Amino acid sequence: MADALTRIEEVQNQGETQLAAATSAADVEEWRVTYLGTKGLVKGLMDLLRDVPREQKPAVGQRVNAVRDRLTAAFEARKTGLSAGAGETGRDAVDVTEPGLLPQVGNRHILMKVIDELTELFGRMGFAVATGPEVEDDFHNFVALNIPESHPARDPLDNFYLQTASAPGARQSALLLRTQTSTVQIRVMETQKPPIRVVIPGRVYRPDTVDQTHLFMFHQLEALVVDKNVSMVDLKSTVMQFVKAYFGPDTRVRFRPSFFPFTEPSAEVDVWFEDRNKWIELGGCGMVHPNVFKACGIDPEVYSGWAFGFGIERIAMRKYGIDDIRYFVENDIRFLRQF
Ligand code: DAH
Repeated sequence: MADALTRIEEVQNQGETQLAAATSAADVEEWRVTYLGTKGLVKGLMDLLRDVPREQKPAVGQRVNAVRDRLTAAFEARKTGLSAGAGETGRDAVDVTEPGLLPQVGNRHILMKVIDELTELFGRMGFAVATGPEVEDDFHNFVALNIPESHPARDPLDNFYLQTASAPGARQSALLLRTQTSTVQIRVMETQKPPIRVVIPGRVYRPDTVDQTHLFMFHQLEALVVDKNVSMVDLKSTVMQFVKAYFGPDTRVRFRPSFFPFTEPSAEVDVWFEDRNKWIELGGCGMVHPNVFKACGIDPEVYSGWAFGFGIERIAMRKYGIDDIRYFVENDIRFLRQF
């Protein structure tokens, strides 16, 4: 029994001395394995009990338990002390200046970012931002834009009508999802007097078959300038300035003569897509048609103006090298997180 008690005392003293000498979390862990581990020295003390006479077992057992509790408590205290850096050399202390981990929060959709970039850029060129409703009437989507009743653009197959036209003249009150942001040109001219200088970002809807470059819902950026003595030169130079500022000074851009009922003359604007090695149409533009001014109560003899309507998805694709328009609406987090 005396031998056993000596050994118990020895393990306790040694343990306490060695624990005090441990200076890092790794040292302390090593110490734990040596003393308190399943094959550790304290466990070894239990084994001594086998050789102790029966009547002395309880006393020796108690002593071993006491040592185990004492070393366990010392170990816990030491571990806490080290991780708090209290009174230590600081090797394992918490570095409170280290930046925390950024939690995974969402981010703005790339199209919304592009809209911000565009309105900001045009803002610097003196344009205000205007918006209008996505559910439109026949007057703003067609009539005021000089698109006659007979025009194929009004075909029910090319539009999302919300009410079917049955009775003669019912079209006049028909509602539809707007097919173009040009509707907001009308709404702006109905409520503001020239000079007008606005850009209009917004969603438009067309029953198109979805593919790599088409969606049934997409975004346009419309621009409208109305003032005295506004000419095609203003239109062309503003568009060139925008293209070079947004895509880079070496971007190739071209104007092709075209037709739109609400502009005369009209043109389409193409930008060279380096990665696809071809011209891609951004949208249309032109000088505001006198009939459009008349529909809004603006005298075409006094004022002139220009307008454009560009596809925002196309602009974003060119700017950020996105090769499929469907990515914008698929909600694939791997795509969205990149921007
Ligand atoms: N609204 C036309 C479209 O969606 C684009 C357009 C062409 C807008 C000429 C304009 C314009 O403002 O002047 O196809």
